[in-house]
Amino acid sequence: MNKYEGHSQLLLRPRTTQQVSEILQYCYAGRLAVVPQGGNTGLVGGSVPVFDEVILNLGAMNKILNFDEASGILVCEAGCILESLDNYVGSRGYVMPLDLGAKGSCQIGGNVSTNAGGLRLLRYGSLHGNVLGLEVVLADGTVLDLLGTLRKDNTGYDLKQLFIGGEGTLGVVTKVSIITPPKLASTNVAFLACEDYVSCQKTFAQAKLQLGEILSAFEFLDRYALDVVLKHLDGTRDPLPDSKQHFYLLVETTGSNQLHDKEKLDAFLESAIEQGLITDGAVAQDISQAASFWKVREGVAEAMGKGGAVYKYDLSIPLKDLYTLVEDMRSRLKDSATVVGYGHMGDGNLHLNIMAPKYDNELLAQIEPYVYEWTAAAKGSISAEHGLGFMKAKAIHYSKSTAAVQVMEGFKKLLDPRGILNPYKVLPSPSESHVIS
Ligand code: FAD
Ligand code: MLT
Ligand code: ZN
Repeated sequence: MNKYEGHSQLLLRPRTTQQVSEILQYCYAGRLAVVPQGGNTGLVGGSVPVFDEVILNLGAMNKILNFDEASGILVCEAGCILESLDNYVGSRGYVMPLDLGAKGSCQIGGNVSTNAGGLRLLRYGSLHGNVLGLEVVLADGTVLDLLGTLRKDNTGYDLKQLFIGGEGTLGVVTKVSIITPPKLASTNVAFLACEDYVSCQKTFAQAKLQLGEILSAFEFLDRYALDVVLKHLDGTRDPLPDSKQHFYLLVETTGSNQLHDKEKLDAFLESAIEQGLITDGAVAQDISQAASFWKVREGVAEAMGKGGAVYKYDLSIPLKDLYTLVEDMRSRLKDSATVVGYGHMGDGNLHLNIMAPKYDNELLAQIEPYVYEWTAAAKGSISAEHGLGFMKAKAIHYSKSTAAVQVMEGFKKLLDPRGILNPYKVLPSPSESHVIS
């Protein structure tokens, strides 16, 4: 997004856990700050060496260590690219439980460290449930073996959870054990148009009722988002060229029986049309059309980046108010920017993006802290899935109490007493012991 610039003079690409451990021992002894880095696709500046940190990139640790075809449990190194893993388990009858637009570059260690949500969370849940174990190297070089492969293990505190979403501030993830669900035979994708946001909301309620267990994604984008994609992304086609509505939904079903799934989908679409919830729609007729519908939704992030400067906000907001913020922001900013709303509606996750010709402090002052105050007042979260990183470290208080932040600082001090791991990220300000080289 051209927002954060790195200033590192040194990038290290270890090949083994032992090397990660030796690097960290060295940096810990010399109080050198380190930024763990995966595919560098994060959207909050978490993987960027904003000062003079050493970059510890996990890309060369990309081996698959084990795949149990009976249980679907995969054990691999942290630098494996998500898409490569999906192809690997895909050819053995499974899918990765997460999917996102950056799958071709992001690494599983980066996904775990951001607790990435993405397009399949609605169906398979978050990484807090799907990750079964981790190997982590702590700031002083200690290797913490938490690499279990069990669904159930209640022996003491579940330490791995601290590193899921830890954004590289508590340890470096070197290995991941993750459960993958079976790849089901039948997938349907529908692209639907709605006149207003309330209709989107009602369509979601109807989809849950009528599609039940086969519903696998429920995504939304507004007209502004669709227009940005069609303008900036080569090869994208409007799935509904005759519709000029304000809202679009991408609904996916995945199940084991094509006939049964199709019947359910048809019944759902018929009742949504009858109730006037959707005005228009198309069901993909083959895999390539399904992919082209997905490309429109997944392409929003990339298209936004081509449109100039973009201020990105990733928010959890109660469903009924989800789009009100977009409208409020639009009236607030008037013609000074284009305000776009899209996201994982099925998870109550809005992506509010504000596009302007260039980054501008006056415009920023109009957006922040308004957007955070608005979200806090709605009892939402200022980071649904992207993390806090560098961008929102100082804003954590909008979503977490002072007591909760103090407990987090306690964990940070315990695991990284010299504050060498990803300083200035996640927590508001480095404690006095955080020393940068
Ligand atoms: P990086 O960007 O390299 O790092 C992210 C954070 O994790 C940093 O704080 C870094 O220090 C830390 N980190 C990385 N690797 C390790 C490690 N091995 N050990 C410890 N810390 C580590 N996110 C979603 O949640 N849902 C989406 O749908 C989604 N879609 C996206 C679409 C696009 C086109 C793009 C560009 C991004 C998207 N993202 C999405 C953002 C998302 O967080 C990342 O794409 C992904 O999870 C980050 O993985 P990465 O390997 O690139 O990590
Ligand atoms: C998405 O859902 O497309 C991603 O989280 C990226 C973005 O927010 O732009
Ligand atoms: Zn997202």
